Amino acid sequence: MSLDLYLTNKADFIEKQLEKALPANDIYPSIIHEAMRYSVLGGGKRLRAILALAACEVFSGSFEQAIGFACALEMIHAYTLVHDDLPCMDDDDYRRGKLTTHKVFGEGIAVLAGDALLTLAFEELAKMPEKYQVSTEVTIQLIKEVSEAIGSQGVIGGQVVDLDSEGKSIDSNVLEYIHHHKTGKLFIASLKGGALIGGANEEQLKAVVDFGTYFGLAFQITDDVLDLTGDATRLGKPVGSDTEQGKNTYPSIFGLENAQEMAKECILNCHQAVTSLPKTASILGDIADFILNRDH
Ligand code: IPE
Ligand code: IPE
Ligand code: MG
Ligand code: MG
Ligand code: MG
Repeated sequence: MSLDLYLTNKADFIEKQLEKALPANDIYPSIIHEAMRYSVLGGGKRLRAILALAACEVFSGSFEQAIGFACALEMIHAYTLVHDDLPCMDDDDYRRGKLTTHKVFGEGIAVLAGDALLTLAFEELAKMPEKYQVSTEVTIQLIKEVSEAIGSQGVIGGQVVDLDSEGKSIDSNVLEYIHHHKTGKLFIASLKGGALIGGANEEQLKAVVDFGTYFGLAFQITDDVLDLTGDATRLGKPVGSDTEQGKNTYPSIFGLENAQEMAKECILNCHQAVTSLPKTASILGDIADFILNRDH
């Protein structure tokens, strides 16, 4: 099967699962459920969910067990995007080819929709034993991993330093902190969580975390590059937003070509990281190559 088909099949599958997991539009109070569904459904590459399912399968786990975890990751990711786009953050009007949540529902509801998605994600995680036969021990570990990955020393920490650095000159260590935290941490948790459900051992988990670390950095460097070189229609979000907001990015600090080289280097390290894993891990390397060459 081609990688394109693999990614499309998995993304379609996740979409159907999310569709079921999110409260219906007509449940009172409708506006929040409409906003939650608007923010999550009908777009997005679903990479965090796909990586979780893929990592589970690498260790011969059944991907069905990882569905609740994968849905929770996409809810969390959508929450971060809704808040990231708010006028008080990156102030962007388009996401996934549609108006951003606050543009359609207003800022108050957008903040609450993000909060509700984050909360629903943890409900999904807590239901993993009853719905997906994940052991309570693994469930508790996943809740811990995810909480750490997205809290004030994870994604939020990265977003804080990203905001605080706008218009300022920062050094490469701070930039790496931003990217590793705002983007890398959730990718790492997705991969590690999937591998845990799949039954990976300590050494294998370490390899998966290494892979995720390079993957996350390469992913955000490419995101920065696409903000300069991408096509807004294809991306489904504005280009030039980073420059407008005075963001520190890999291209703004190192130059476009160096940034592209650095992303390439990270992808080589991704391949290196998984050499000790079963042959089934080649899918992770393929996904890494995909994100380097992506145009959306
Ligand atoms: C966008 O992530 C936010 C970043 C971390 C750069 P994605 O590019 O994975 O967004 P979707 O889910 O595909 O829309
Ligand atoms: C967003 O980084 C990271 C998170 C949402 C946590 P960006 O601000 O670069 O993402 P885009 O470009 O708006 O998708
Ligand atoms: Mg941002
Ligand atoms: Mg943004
Ligand atoms: Mg960006």
